[in-house]
Amino acid sequence: MTAVVTGGASGIGKALAQRFSRAGLQVVIADVEEAVLRATADELGVVGIRTDVADAGSVAALAAATVERFGAVHVVCNNAGVGGGGAIKDLTLEDWRWVIDVNLWGVVHGLHAFLPHLLANPDGGHVVNTASVAGLVAGPGIGPYNAAKSAVVAISETLAAELRAEGSRVGVSVLCPGFVRTNIFTSQRNRPEALRNPSKKTAARAGNDAIVEAVRAQGIEPAVVADRVVDAVVGDRFWILTHPEHLDAVRERFAGIEAAASG
Ligand SMILES: NC(=O)c1ccc[n+]([C@@H]2O[C@H](COP(=O)([O-])OP(=O)(O)OC[C@H]3O[C@@H](n4cnc5c(N)ncnc54)[C@H](O)[C@@H]3O)[C@@H](O)[C@H]2O)c1
Repeated sequence: MTAVVTGGASGIGKALAQRFSRAGLQVVIADVEEAVLRATADELGVVGIRTDVADAGSVAALAAATVERFGAVHVVCNNAGVGGGGAIKDLTLEDWRWVIDVNLWGVVHGLHAFLPHLLANPDGGHVVNTASVAGLVAGPGIGPYNAAKSAVVAISETLAAELRAEGSRVGVSVLCPGFVRTNIFTSQRNRPEALRNPSKKTAARAGNDAIVEAVRAQGIEPAVVADRVVDAVVGDRFWILTHPEHLDAVRERFAGIEAAASG
C-alpha cells in the first residue's frame, strides 16, 4: 500500500509519514520547502517529491510520479497548509490569495489529481483532508484561514456523501485539530515572492497573539494527531478531532443557529 502526504516535510505531515511508514506502507512526502523535504525524506527513509500544492500541474505531476513508481496509491493526505493572520479590514488581496491558494486550492488539486487513482483501486482507498477547528468555528484574526478550512470541511462532507451514495470503497476523513506544536507559525517562510505583503502589516504571523500563546501552552505533539488519523483511516471514520474542549464553541455556534430557527 502507498500513502502520499502533502506538507510531509514538517509538523503533522511528517508525523503522518512516520506513522504510515512504521505501519509498513510505502510513503511519498510532497512539500514545497525543498531542503527540509530532502532532509525529512532521508530521515524517515521515504520518497520526497518537491510539490507546490497551489499549482495544479505540480500536484498532477506528483500523482503521476507516485503511480509510476509504486503502481497505485491508496491513502492521500491533503495536509499542506499555511497560517496567515490579520484583521480582515487590514488584509491585502495577496494575504487572502496565498492562504486560500495553499489551504483550499491545495486540497482541490489533491482531490482532482488523486481521486481517479483511488477510485480505480479494486480495494479502494482513503482520503484525509486536513482542515482545523477553524473550519468548525470562526474566531477573529485569521479570516482567510477560517474561510479555507470551512471550505475544506464542506468539500470533505460533500465528497463523503457522494462516495457513500455510490457505494464506493474510497473513504473520506476530515482532520480538525486544535493546537498542535508544529512550524505553522513560521509559514511565511514558504510564501511566494509575488504574494508577499510589503507593508508586513498583516499576515506576518499565522495568527493573533492569543492563538500563538495558546499553541505554546496547549499544543499537542504531532505524533498524537498522526495516531488519531491512522485509527480513523483503519476504522473508516469521517471526523477526526483532537481537542474535545473546542466542542463547546461548536455547540455555542449551533445553539445560535437553532435559536434563530426556532424564534
Ligand atoms: N499546528 C496547528 O496547531 C494546526 C491546527 C489545525 C490545523 N493545522 C493544519 O495542519 C496542516 C499541517 O500544518 P502544520 O501545523 O504541521 O505546519 P508545518 O508548517 O509544520 O507544516 C506544514 C508543511 O506544509 C508545507 N507547505 C507550505 N506551503 C506549501 C505548498 N504551497 N505546497 C506544498 N507544501 C507546502 C510546509 O513547507 C510544511 O512542511 C496545515 O493544513 C494546517 O493548517 C495545524
